Amino acid sequence: MAELKNKRILMIIGGGIAAYKALELIRRLKDQGARVRAILTGGGAQFITPLSVASLTGEKVFSDLFSLTDETEMGHIRLSREADLLLVVPATANLLAKMAHGIADDLASTTLLATNKPVMAAPAMNVEMWAKPSTMRNIRQLRQDGVMIIEPAEGELACGEVGVGRLPEVDVIRDHVIRHFKGHKGRLHGLRALVTAGPTHEPIDPVRYIANRSSGKQGYAIAGAFARFGAETVLVSGPTHLETPQGVDRIDVETAREMWRAVQKNLPYDVAVCSAAVSDWGIDQQAGQKIKKESGADQVMTFKQNPDILADLALSNRRPRLVIGFAAETENLLENAREKRLRKNCDWIIANDVSAATGIMGGNENTVHVITGDGEEAWPKASKEDVALRLVEKIAGHLESNP
Ligand code: CTP
Repeated sequence: MAELKNKRILMIIGGGIAAYKALELIRRLKDQGARVRAILTGGGAQFITPLSVASLTGEKVFSDLFSLTDETEMGHIRLSREADLLLVVPATANLLAKMAHGIADDLASTTLLATNKPVMAAPAMNVEMWAKPSTMRNIRQLRQDGVMIIEPAEGELACGEVGVGRLPEVDVIRDHVIRHFKGHKGRLHGLRALVTAGPTHEPIDPVRYIANRSSGKQGYAIAGAFARFGAETVLVSGPTHLETPQGVDRIDVETAREMWRAVQKNLPYDVAVCSAAVSDWGIDQQAGQKIKKESGADQVMTFKQNPDILADLALSNRRPRLVIGFAAETENLLENAREKRLRKNCDWIIANDVSAATGIMGGNENTVHVITGDGEEAWPKASKEDVALRLVEKIAGHLESNP
C-alpha cells in the first residue's frame, strides 16, 4: 500500500555515523509513494556522499546556504514551503541544540528555523551525549515547541559503548512518518479512557511502606497516547517521579485500596488499561506510630489481600467495552499471561517478561506479547512510547470496527 502517496518529505541528514541509515530510509519512504528531497549538512557529507543521496531521492541534493545557484533555483524558504514534513535523521546533539535555540548558521538549521511545517526528529548519538542535562533540556524544549521526537533505541552504539542513543530501525522511523500523516488526532474523540500506572505503596507505619520496582513509564506513555488520539483520559497513578502527559487528567493515589476507589469513582470508561503494579497485599494492622525495634525480637506482620482493580472492572455492571490488563511475569510468560486473561475476565492482556535481566522494570524499552481472544502477537523491542502508540492504535482500530 502506498501510505505516503503524494507526500513531500524534506529530509535533513545530520553528521553522525547513523547517516548511512538515512539512505535506506529514503528508499522505504519512496516505496510508500513519498517524494523525498534532502538537505545534507556539512557533517552529514562526511559520512555519506551527495551523489548517493541524489541517486536515491532522484532529486538534487541541497547543502550550501550561500550557493547562488541554489538561492536562485530553490531558496531555503521555498525548500521548506514545498514540503509536507521536515524529517531530521539522524538528529545530532549539535543540530538539536541549534533547533532548540533558534540558531541558523547553515542551510539545514536555517530551513528548520524558517519552516512553517511539522518537524520530526530522530536523535542518534553517544549514550553520554544523549543523557547530558543540556541535551535533555533541548529535547524538552523541542517537544514543547511541537517537534515530534522519535525516541532513540537502546543497544550497542557505533562508538562501542552500550546504552540509549541508537537511531531506531528504519522501519520504525518510516512507521512514525506514516502515523503522522494518517493523523490519529480525534480517532478516539468522544471516548473515555482509564489507565492505571505506577507502583502502589502499602504503609507499615507512618514512615515505612512496601513498594515495588514499577516506574510507571509504560502506563504514562499509554495515557499520553490516548490523549493524542483525542480520548478523555483519566490516569490513576501510584507514586512516581514522572510528568503528567499533555491532555491527561491525573489522579494521584498511594495504596491499592485508594487506587481501587479512584477507579470505581470515575466510572464509566469506554476502554481501560490496567498497567499499574498493584500490591497484592496491604499490611493488616497499620501502626499509628513508628514501630520501635526491640533488641533480638523479629517483627511479624500479617498481610491482607487487596481488592483486584482489574478483575472488579471486568465484572462491573458498567464494564468498559475493552478491558486490558498487564501480566508482568518472571517465568512461564505466555502460559501465566493466558491464564491471567481468563481468570481476570479481561479482553486483552499485555505480557511482559520483567525478570531483572530484561531491564524492563524502570527501563525505557519494552518487549511485549499482546494476547487477545483472537490470537497472540509478539511485538519487537521498542521504546515504551512506541509500544504505547502501537497499542492505542490497535485499540482505536478495535473500537472502530466494534462500535
Ligand atoms: N491488578 C489489579 N489489581 C490488583 C492486582 C493486579 O488491577 N490488586 C492488575 C494489574 O494492573 C495488571 C494485572 O492485574 O493489569 C495483573 O497483575 P499481576 O500483578 O501480574 O497479577 P496478579 O493478579 O497479582 O497475579 P500474580 O501476582 O499471581 O502473578
